[in-house]
Amino acid sequence: MHKIVIKGGVPLKGEVRISGAKNAVLPLLFATLLSDGQSEICNVPALRDIDTAVALLNTLGATTERVGDCCQVNASAIQSIEAPYDLVRTMRASVLVLGPLLARCGHARVSLPGGCAIGARPIDQHLKGFEALGAKITLDHGYVEAHAERLRGAHIIFDMPTVGGTENLLMATALAEGESIIENAAREPEIVQLAEALISMGAKIEGAGTARIQIEGVSSLNPLKISVMPDRIEAGTFMIASAMTGGDILVRGAQQRDQEALLQKMAEAGVMIHPERDGLRVVGPEKLMPVDIRTSTFPGFPTDMQAQFMAMMAIADGTSRVSENVFENRFMHVCELQRLGADISIDGHSAQIHGVKQLLGAPVMATDLRASACLILAGLAADNTTEVSRIYHLDRGYERIEEKLAGLGACIERVLE
Ligand code: EPZ
Repeated sequence: MHKIVIKGGVPLKGEVRISGAKNAVLPLLFATLLSDGQSEICNVPALRDIDTAVALLNTLGATTERVGDCCQVNASAIQSIEAPYDLVRTMRASVLVLGPLLARCGHARVSLPGGCAIGARPIDQHLKGFEALGAKITLDHGYVEAHAERLRGAHIIFDMPTVGGTENLLMATALAEGESIIENAAREPEIVQLAEALISMGAKIEGAGTARIQIEGVSSLNPLKISVMPDRIEAGTFMIASAMTGGDILVRGAQQRDQEALLQKMAEAGVMIHPERDGLRVVGPEKLMPVDIRTSTFPGFPTDMQAQFMAMMAIADGTSRVSENVFENRFMHVCELQRLGADISIDGHSAQIHGVKQLLGAPVMATDLRASACLILAGLAADNTTEVSRIYHLDRGYERIEEKLAGLGACIERVLE
């Protein structure tokens, strides 16, 4: 087991290149199952979740090869339609094989993902969509069994915008017979890239990025060749690192249009953000101002940036409120921040943060992916030394984060625990 050790107080300087977006790569990898040719996805980061997704593709019979920063996938021979529990429980996004397998093979058997640290995260909306397309869904000893001779287009209305549900149903309807409409669709940039990818494979899709998506099913799809968009959450994490350390960094690959809500809230906190040719320059202020946030689906404030923003508010000059409206249990970083001297109180879905002058370095424990990032950020701003353990959570979604931060001058290293 490893931990990350940080000596805080160093203002970050220089530039960092953002890696490909984890939450864009995962659906794109599973979209390769929709075609019987050789696909290639480039700008793929080296992350544990990507390794899990590739292992799942191999389990299903696809051949895969890592060539530089590209993943080549040949799904011409699918030998299994089962996504086993040990892979799905490692990475719940494995449920995204349901749509492609149903559409391509007419059958899928996928372990129910179960809950995770941040919430129950059911997939009822995914299953409701598949049933609307004519699939027969049964639950069998912890597995979802789905059968459909041929999926038929339908009018699907989600109870709430769901990223994974929208992605699963986009992939399923692309090969369904006739027209489908997805209402109350999620609008995240990663969904737009998935739709662009499917269109490049021959799918007929209109409206991705809006709450109403129209799909005209086709009989087959060509292989995929695409380069993945930069990771807007990694970009936001580095932007907050600069803001919290009084730094001045260029975040190469950060795209204004993908994170307007975050940028507006950072500007309100006094952070100076300057668009540059291929990224955003972020300058931390002498004093951070308190700002209230409420997470919501895109284009609202992203839940995946809530913990990181809270770390910044922990050292703001005043009181702020954070309301987590997407997941039911996404405040586990709070008690770890309190170990670092943060003054935070929780009341149901909202937290009140009284900024302190200085966080105090201490050993803390990561509980989930974004909580890990929040603790790294707090350690960068704290005095003395902060040790973050259980960083396997971090490695699921951040590529070489300690090397990138060290490249910006941070005093940080990964050591054996
Ligand atoms: C995706 O998860 C992301 N993961 C999450 O990022 C992100 O936090 C989330 O979207 C919200 O933006 C990937 O893209 C791999 P949802 P997903 O379905 O698809 C409820 C990270 O840190 N819901 O949009 O699982 C659900 O419980 C991860 O990178 C149902 O009730 O999220 C949640 O409260 C964490 N029934 C809300 O909707 C369903 O059938 C949003 O979930 C589906 C969802």
